[in-house]
Amino acid sequence: MEKNTFYITTPIYYPSNKMTLGNCYSTIIADCIARFNKMLGKDVFYLTGTDEHGEKLAKTAEAKGMEIKNYLDVMIEDIKDLWKLLDIDYSKFIRTTDTYHEKVAQKVFNELYKKGYIYKSKYKGLYCLPCESFWTESQLVDGRCPDCGREVKYEEEEAYFFKLSEFGDKLLKLYEENPEFLQPNSRVHEMVNNFIKPGLQDLCVSRTSVKWGIPVEFDPKHTIYVWIDALFNYLSAIGYASDDETNYKKYWPADLHLIGKDIVRFHSIYWPALLMALDVPLPKQIYGHGWLLLGGQKLSKSKNSLVKEIIDPRILVSRYSVDSVRYYLIREIPFGSDGTYSTENFLKRINTDLCNDFGNLVKRTLTMAQKYFGSIVPKQADLNNDDIELIKNVETAKNNVLEYMKKFDVSKAITELFSIFGFGNKYIDQTMPWNLAKDNDTRLKTVIYNLLETIKIGTVLLQSFLPQGAKKVLNAFGIDEVNIIQIAKFGLLKDGAKIGEVEMLYPRLDIEKELKELALLD
Ligand code: ME8
Ligand code: MG
Repeated sequence: MEKNTFYITTPIYYPSNKMTLGNCYSTIIADCIARFNKMLGKDVFYLTGTDEHGEKLAKTAEAKGMEIKNYLDVMIEDIKDLWKLLDIDYSKFIRTTDTYHEKVAQKVFNELYKKGYIYKSKYKGLYCLPCESFWTESQLVDGRCPDCGREVKYEEEEAYFFKLSEFGDKLLKLYEENPEFLQPNSRVHEMVNNFIKPGLQDLCVSRTSVKWGIPVEFDPKHTIYVWIDALFNYLSAIGYASDDETNYKKYWPADLHLIGKDIVRFHSIYWPALLMALDVPLPKQIYGHGWLLLGGQKLSKSKNSLVKEIIDPRILVSRYSVDSVRYYLIREIPFGSDGTYSTENFLKRINTDLCNDFGNLVKRTLTMAQKYFGSIVPKQADLNNDDIELIKNVETAKNNVLEYMKKFDVSKAITELFSIFGFGNKYIDQTMPWNLAKDNDTRLKTVIYNLLETIKIGTVLLQSFLPQGAKKVLNAFGIDEVNIIQIAKFGLLKDGAKIGEVEMLYPRLDIEKELKELALLD
């Protein structure tokens, strides 16, 4: 029997009070995928949270003269507020400082040690403090950290190691036999050529110099390497190795770990190797999405000189609606690739897609339905070619949306979805209901009926992407359930039903004026 659950995760974020629009990408995309699967009738568990250990955070708190836990608590509340603002409907928010998580991290460390996969030795090597990553000489780029370009420091200390070197062939076999395991495909080549083929080295998994971490239970002067601690959040969050493994049994293996391309190595090499060592089934898919870029660079919390106020997600949401921010990110970053942020494009998208294509279709149709039929769904008569073409186009687009969403391709899915509204607008131009109103009441009824159906179908699909706008429209249709993919087809609207009013969806923007005002905020 096919499993009817769907377990999706975002990365757990390093706490920061400078969350950028780029950081919102993972949670927004995951939210769309989670909501979409709920709509398909699945039992969805959507996990997000924060990654709270490591020297970097401890140092920042210290520099601010703050107790680390207090420092974290404030930031975490802020992050939760941001997710609320963006309408992120997660099932659970995990903090790696939560006691249950710390216990699981310790347990798996013990287990790996007992099984002989972890041994004690000495670490000598190069360490990037901001990235909390060890690097070999050959991995450095111009003598610097290959991820962030900053300086690395030579370090030597007693440490525990995980026998990662034993997993090279197993990982190659995994990628080969399960092409779905790591997506998009380009990431597989990168992992194989840059990391596995050159030979995996054993991984240093404990530090004695890092105090802000989870102690190794059997040797407490060591703390567990942050990435090992962090990765196990995906299991501890659902009760793995706890007194109550109900959720673990129900949801594991995860259907999708959605992550940014910068952390693919940790998720597609370390993570499956650790799970194999523990005999835990592997997640079904790791998807490494692209970045939101600004001026050719990744928008990032740590390089805050680039982060201008105008791309503060909170400001964009408060000025232009949650839907517009979600829409822009889903639509403008081709799923799996990078996309470049531009405020002008952001504003243009609001006008062309949200106001014109969607908003206007709804407004024109409901106004006509009101004017001609007192907002009562009319009875449709025989279909002509225009109708048949509309119905076929809408059905095809809907099926394409479903297909793309199976592959989690949100950007292609939303493009297809908006074509539904495009077909509706074209149909209005073709059929010219205002002319029919003069002399062809039968045709007018059919046309308005088909337009209402087109809007209903498009909006049912849209609710996973733009929950707020979709809700307003669906309310007018008297639809409020979530598991309603079944009603996304023609012919189900009952004639005689009353259509309610829809308040203004997305006000049209004066782009020049907005750009000027935003520039003043800098
Ligand atoms: O990496 N565009 O946390 P993090 C798109 N704690 N995505 C972006 C982005 C951008 N400009 N900037 C950041 C960590 N991200 C670890 C994860 S998981 C066990 C541990 C994405 O706060 C980034 O790719 O640095 C990642 O997916 C997420 O934000 C969190 O990044
Ligand atoms: Mg990062």
